[in-house]
Amino acid sequence: MRIVYKSPDELKLMRESALVTAGILDDLCAAAVPGASTWDLEMIARAGIAKHKVKSAFLNYAQPPYPAVLCTSINEVIVHGIPRKDEILKDGDIIGIDFGTFKHSFCADTARTVCVGKVSPEKQKLVDTARGALEAAIALCVAGNRLGDLGHAVQSYAEAQGYSVVRQFVGHGIGRQMHEDPQVPNYGEAGSGKRLKTGLVIAVEPMVNAGSPDVEVLEDDWTAVTKDRSMSAHFEHTIAITDDGPWVLTRATSTPGNPGA
Ligand code: MF3
Ligand code: CO
Ligand code: CO
Repeated sequence: MRIVYKSPDELKLMRESALVTAGILDDLCAAAVPGASTWDLEMIARAGIAKHKVKSAFLNYAQPPYPAVLCTSINEVIVHGIPRKDEILKDGDIIGIDFGTFKHSFCADTARTVCVGKVSPEKQKLVDTARGALEAAIALCVAGNRLGDLGHAVQSYAEAQGYSVVRQFVGHGIGRQMHEDPQVPNYGEAGSGKRLKTGLVIAVEPMVNAGSPDVEVLEDDWTAVTKDRSMSAHFEHTIAITDDGPWVLTRATSTPGNPGA
């Protein structure tokens, strides 16, 4: 598949889609408190989908069909954890919440790792580093830069803190499909790879492990955990490359050229 560049009108539609998705993710993050189950979060996400009349990007995705509208990935789970009624959040957990929807036929995909109650300084640093790694990549989402510049920024940021980046999963182009070309690795050489051009929209999503980068997928064929069971954190934004610079579509405070905060 080749890269599909988006027109300014298409970016406006993608922004609408992204704001709905990010707004529901805000509610999910606020609900990630001790005692809540990951299925409680799933129910909140489904209510948001119904309220805003959007479509889940995750439900029934791929093979075996993904069985939920969000991914809830606790502690050593890297990504693709499946919400369950009997999985209860505890004080000190970290949980990655990944959510995606379609509106106006355009997909938005965004994830955050949230601290449940009071977490250890070690977990806090891991989460802060994964968030910072994404911000470092966002700053480089400028036409003329290359995909390898983004990967290198994420990798060097995470490795400078003694962490590793996952290689088995990558970010991706996004638009009328959740996963479009190009792949967006969280590692690489500066100055390598395809150049970013205006109209490119990518989901950048660093997965940072406290230990080794190796991944194991559990029996359900989805849940991806660290092989060494070390902690892992994941952040994701849907980002448009514009003539003015990065536009973080899944962040309400961002405008073209201004990443927001
Ligand atoms: N949202 C994930 C990503 O960031 C993909 C989720 S797979 C699904 O690319 F099956 F849960 F949809
Ligand atoms: Co995602
Ligand atoms: Co994604």
